Amino acid sequence: MATMELHPSITAVFKKKPLEFYLNGTRIELSDPNPQWTLLDFIRSQHGLKGTKLGCGEGGCGACTVVIQTLDTSQERKGRVRHLAVNACLFPLVGVVGKNVITVEGIGNSENPHPLQERMAKLHGSQCGFCTPGIVMSLYALIRNSYDPATKTFRLTESDVELEGHLDGNLCRCTGYKPILQAAKTFITEDLKGKIAISGETVHDLQDRECSEISYMSEGAVKTSFSCGRPGGCCRDPPKMTKESTSLSPDSSVKRSRDSSDTGSLEHVSVSESAISTPEEDETVSVSGTTFGKPMKSNEKESPDGSQVEGTKVKAGIDAPPPKIDSGIPQYSFAPYSTNTELIFPPALRKFENIPLYYGNSTHIWLRPVTLEQLLLVKGVYPSAKLVGGASEVQIEVRFKNLSFPISVYVSDIEALRQIDDPNNYEDLDTVNEVIFGANLSLTDIEAFCKDLSRKLGQRGSVLEAIRKQLRYFAGRQIRNVASLAGNIATASPVSDINPVLLACGAFLAAESKTRGPFGLEMSDFFTGYRTTTLPADAVITHIHIPLPELGVTEVTKAYKQSKRKDDDIAIVTAAFRVQLSWDGLISNISLAYGGMAPRTIEAKSTKRKLVGKKWHSSTTLDSAMAYLAHEFDLNFGAPGGMATYRKTLAISLFFRFWHEVISDLKLGEVNQDLITEIHRSISSGSRDDNNPHEQRVVGKQIPHLSALKQNTGEAQYVDDMPPQDRELFGAMVLSSRAHAKLVEVDWSPAIGPGLALGYVDKHSISKEANFWGSIVKDEPFFADGEVFSQGQPIGLVYAETALQAQAAARAVRIVYEDLPAILTIDEAIEAKSFFKHGKILKKGAAIEDKMDKAWEKCERVFEGTTRIGGQEHFYLETNAALIIPNLEDKTFEVWSSTQNTMETQEFVSQVTGVPSHRVNARVKRMGGAFGGKESRSVQLACLLAVAAKKEGRPMRCMLNRDEDMMTTGQRHPIQARWKVGCTSDGKLLALEADVYDNAGFSQDMSGAVMDRCCTHLDNCYEIPNVLIRGHVCKTNTHSNTAFRGFGGPQSMFITETYMTAIAEGLKIPIDELRHRNLYKEGQLTPFLQKIDQDWHVPLLLSQIREETNYDSRLATIQKFNSQHKWRKRGISMIPTKFGLSFATALHLNQAGASVMIYADGSILLHHGGTEMGQGLYTKMVQVAAQELNVPVDAIFTPDSTTYQIANASPTAASSGSDLNGMAIKDACDQLNARLAPFREKFGKDAPMKTLAHAAYLERVNLSANGFWKMPRIGYTWGNYNTETQKPMYYYFTQGVAISEIELDVLTGSHTVLRTDIKMDIGRSINPAIDYGQIEGAFVQGLGLFTMEESLWMQDGRLATTGPGTYKIPGFSDIPQEFNVSFLQGVEWGHLRSIQSSKGVGEPPLFLGASVLFALRMAVMSAREDNGVREPLVLDSPATPERLRLAIGDEILKRGTVVQKAGEKGFFVSVA
Ligand SMILES: Cc1cc2nc3c(=O)[nH]c(=O)nc-3n(C[C@H](O)[C@H](O)[C@H](O)COP(=O)(O)OP(=O)(O)OC[C@H]3O[C@@H](n4cnc5c(N)ncnc54)[C@H](O)[C@@H]3O)c2cc1C
Ligand code: FES
Ligand code: FES
Repeated sequence: MATMELHPSITAVFKKKPLEFYLNGTRIELSDPNPQWTLLDFIRSQHGLKGTKLGCGEGGCGACTVVIQTLDTSQERKGRVRHLAVNACLFPLVGVVGKNVITVEGIGNSENPHPLQERMAKLHGSQCGFCTPGIVMSLYALIRNSYDPATKTFRLTESDVELEGHLDGNLCRCTGYKPILQAAKTFITEDLKGKIAISGETVHDLQDRECSEISYMSEGAVKTSFSCGRPGGCCRDPPKMTKESTSLSPDSSVKRSRDSSDTGSLEHVSVSESAISTPEEDETVSVSGTTFGKPMKSNEKESPDGSQVEGTKVKAGIDAPPPKIDSGIPQYSFAPYSTNTELIFPPALRKFENIPLYYGNSTHIWLRPVTLEQLLLVKGVYPSAKLVGGASEVQIEVRFKNLSFPISVYVSDIEALRQIDDPNNYEDLDTVNEVIFGANLSLTDIEAFCKDLSRKLGQRGSVLEAIRKQLRYFAGRQIRNVASLAGNIATASPVSDINPVLLACGAFLAAESKTRGPFGLEMSDFFTGYRTTTLPADAVITHIHIPLPELGVTEVTKAYKQSKRKDDDIAIVTAAFRVQLSWDGLISNISLAYGGMAPRTIEAKSTKRKLVGKKWHSSTTLDSAMAYLAHEFDLNFGAPGGMATYRKTLAISLFFRFWHEVISDLKLGEVNQDLITEIHRSISSGSRDDNNPHEQRVVGKQIPHLSALKQNTGEAQYVDDMPPQDRELFGAMVLSSRAHAKLVEVDWSPAIGPGLALGYVDKHSISKEANFWGSIVKDEPFFADGEVFSQGQPIGLVYAETALQAQAAARAVRIVYEDLPAILTIDEAIEAKSFFKHGKILKKGAAIEDKMDKAWEKCERVFEGTTRIGGQEHFYLETNAALIIPNLEDKTFEVWSSTQNTMETQEFVSQVTGVPSHRVNARVKRMGGAFGGKESRSVQLACLLAVAAKKEGRPMRCMLNRDEDMMTTGQRHPIQARWKVGCTSDGKLLALEADVYDNAGFSQDMSGAVMDRCCTHLDNCYEIPNVLIRGHVCKTNTHSNTAFRGFGGPQSMFITETYMTAIAEGLKIPIDELRHRNLYKEGQLTPFLQKIDQDWHVPLLLSQIREETNYDSRLATIQKFNSQHKWRKRGISMIPTKFGLSFATALHLNQAGASVMIYADGSILLHHGGTEMGQGLYTKMVQVAAQELNVPVDAIFTPDSTTYQIANASPTAASSGSDLNGMAIKDACDQLNARLAPFREKFGKDAPMKTLAHAAYLERVNLSANGFWKMPRIGYTWGNYNTETQKPMYYYFTQGVAISEIELDVLTGSHTVLRTDIKMDIGRSINPAIDYGQIEGAFVQGLGLFTMEESLWMQDGRLATTGPGTYKIPGFSDIPQEFNVSFLQGVEWGHLRSIQSSKGVGEPPLFLGASVLFALRMAVMSAREDNGVREPLVLDSPATPERLRLAIGDEILKRGTVVQKAGEKGFFVSVA
């Protein structure tokens, strides 16, 4: 496309040039790239570079993290190479000019991983792997920046890893973060005093220990000092170095070349040639139980002199800490780390000529000035040109607000705008009266500068400390590395964190334009309204002046921020206060600036006026200041952003804290330290008991996830990473923007045309019958037909040549709606009697005879209540994705889908395409997390694409954007229970009656089944003789809610523990005692009449963990603490759980198939019906097969899950993946072992599989077997109350207990989890490492559910929380500071008939996250007691900082309470 005509004065200065940069050390010249592209778009367009992931597109998840290697331009460190982790999804492509971009592929591959990649893999830091490359790159930047080439020292501390915010821009939904931190900490070298070890001998020492634990692998690898032969490569495998580890697309516009001066820039430079040799072609390696021929070769290779090849290449290395030798704990050793072998900065870039350039097309031009004059020239000619600094606002506007800027100007490479004074250059700090920041200096640089100078200045530098503090908790590190002050100021966001400080300190902006020249702007009148300022259109901000108080002036400046999550979150309220006191302690000047209290950053001017002249250290001043603030911030109940009472209370509370801090800082008096210290976490620690007495040759071993190394190197492929297909097109869904409306008109014509869509499909593209789908009831249309019932419901799908075009086309479709009334909440549904047919009831005891009245009569105490628990967004890091490849010859469809449910995908694609199932091969290799969210909802996207693929006869691909995924694919069900519970006066439960409602959304999906599980977990671990539970499924106009880890169980057990707490508080019985009195005993019946069997271990778990963790003495300490502390409270809670295993009442799903094929060379192909979503199923199943067939795990390969191999596979769900598929595999292996028995007799029982298989083949023995298993015993029938004939609902119960201890900041509602201990009964673990990972990950997900994650809707029914910016899942800083996990030991499982006597573990630990909520409740109760609040506490889930703060009932809250006026609605709606 032609380029937009630029003004001649511009083209006289700017040249149209290719973008020149380096990518993983390879020189790139990029002519005419798409001006819409971000760096991520470019990277992912390249062959072999799919490791960098798209997780959100808004800088909130870190999956796209890459490292920009660039030269420091600061005076102090000029020329030093810097490594900046950045979000490629936001970073403008033009920003890479003159720099080296490093992606995860650039630092290693599975043949030759970077030590970081290897350690992450070995220490189980990756489950689904979708977040992993981003985390690796953030850590890589940290590690690289830890080396100082000037002093040749490497210094990395635990504090750097955990407390300095280097990982705050990365999210992981699977691991619970602990193993990632553990891997990162192996690089800590404090013990080496920062010196690099000169370490020939250390390397050898390490190698002697390497692999010794991995005896489940090929025998040849064991007890030698060479490769352990693990799949994906061992740390000892010889590096297979290629000249270029990445290859770029043959796109003619991309030129690659190796700069002549650049030798070795890509490779680990000190690798000798001898280390690059490859295994010989026909090498045969002997392994335990099998021998492979050519097709499966080990990578083992001895170097010519017989020494180890990997480690000996290193001349100097920073060794990982030596492994501990504690008995029973797996010993890990790692390839040593050497800074000498890191990628170097391309030498040619040191001479790079910075010139002004531009590129673009007829609709969008990018200009890259390198001087301020050039920038002013552009702004003079094009005042509306969009300046782009870090792009962390601009790219959000482009991507999510659909703004387009015809001319964008990249300003971050203009030196004049990035200046900063080196504090060391100030000769006399006393004379420094202001600090000047270049407008587009990065926030990271400002943070570091402020830290340094404020320390030197002491009290006089309090404003700099305030800036540092705000920046520490500002966005994530990747954003701080590029974002600027000017970008924040010019955006004028009402919740900006930095603007209140600038306003409070009286900052001054230097600006400049072509016409006016330099001029100044006062911050005090800079903000004129919502995102509007006084900056003239043609001007740019050049510098920010921060005044410092003169020597001798008594001044204190402080800043505060309160958000839902401490790290990387937008503020709810943010504030900065500055006060100057005269010699006699009177207020001579004061400024109180707030964000989050108005449409712009504002000063509380009226309060200010009233305070001047008052004595600071006077309780009257404090009291009146709070009263003035309460008056000044007269918020409405429905104020934009919601949380009116919380905001107002915070505004006062933060000032309250400031007042005390000033007294403390200026030593005006004594203050309560709890009031002035914010909650901070310290460095985390934790343990796994690592004791598995049931370990066998393969089963029971802590084998790392088989894909871990590939996930860490970016080689692991997810659906959207699959190579482009011939003639493939990209789909984009056209979604309803209304919650409930008639479709008056849908006009597709604006979406079709050049640069937009090629075509579309909608309800007319399939028959009316084929248009309906659903897991249980087909009640949901694929394409809306005349009416939409929820925002995010698909109306159609457009397809185009590129994904960006398809998305633009989808936005262009013109839809006319006629709004209809919408039901959003459970309360509204109950009132409108809007239910799906369900009618399931559980009855026990008197209820069976309809005589609950009699039961109630016996109750000495009765408690009633309503409990609500919000839903939960799955937030798998990989959104739903599918690729449909039609085969025109056979009329078949290959359906690659990110799905847990291949069978349902196959069935519905068959339905919409009209071909039988045998012509649809539904496949999935791995998912980037699923958690139930891809059990049914994934079907929709695959089917929409299949309709289009059929229509066009061309492959169709789509990966949903994060907001689309959140709008369309449903969540965990919000649930409300109205309960009544009766007991004796000493707390023995006698009766329970409950109506439980789940918010199903607009279609049924699995909501009925979720309600079933919900009803069957309303007892948790307690025996109740008389029970009547009615389940109701509410039909509303939200997205259709679906399965989510726990499937209604966690919500239900939360309700149980809530009514138990109500009883305990009502009867004043310690809650642990109440639980103990009511625990099930063997032989008792659940509300679904299942007998508690001999494997009932909850009482034992409780007593073991109680003793091991000193629970009772800790409880006493906490009670004492609380009696002595008013503003800081602690809480502890010990919560048990029992979770039923099986697809409860969907009996037919409790079956599985497997296929095991032994090839004549002894290698084995394994398929089963389970899918891999990070939970390690493939690894566990390979272990099962390897154990059964007496082969090592690397003899077995599972490529993917496919309906062409396994027919009618149940979804991988209900924690039953290992149980079902493991047994089916065992069945197949049993058949094969029977057929191989004669050969084992002949060649010996441990004869290699190659020998056995070859001999069997020659004897014409079938070496393929199909295994099958159906779960015995179960078969519950609803409505059958006969205990003789009723069958069990669940096969067994997984059980566990957690104890969590927390600390709460009463003033703000923030908290930290000080410690969590979990003990689980998971039978005999097939792979403890994987199970620990499941437990930790599930717990952290539960912690999110119960304390943090909150979906909110707008009043009109639109989902308000549609990405990581608004929906917060736990981050690195939210995990328990001490986190210990152990397994129940010393018991037998007499009743368990599962594979290898293991138990399902995926879902059960999630509920234990509620221990944090109940610990918080204890803390809140103590605060309420201090404040004389007597009413029973209703603490619904999630216990957000807002809910906790509002429960305290103190005087400040009373001042902050915003009363709801008649007819006034809240800004947001929560739908539980
Ligand atoms: C995930 C995420 C988290 C965030 N977290 C926070 C947070 O915690 N707190 C917070 O306050 N903000 C936060 N933000 C907002 C954003 O990061 C900040 O506002 C940041 O400072 C913007 O800087 P930038 O350089 O990236 O601006 P850009 O996006 O490049 O530009 C923003 C605006 O500033 C203008 N501009 C840039 N430079 C100049 C200049 N020299 N003169 C005049 N105008 C200029 C641009 O034209 C544009 O209008 C977050 C954003 C994201 C995406
Ligand atoms: S994809 Fe870039 S931060 Fe999420
Ligand atoms: S491993 Fe981190 S998101 Fe799955």
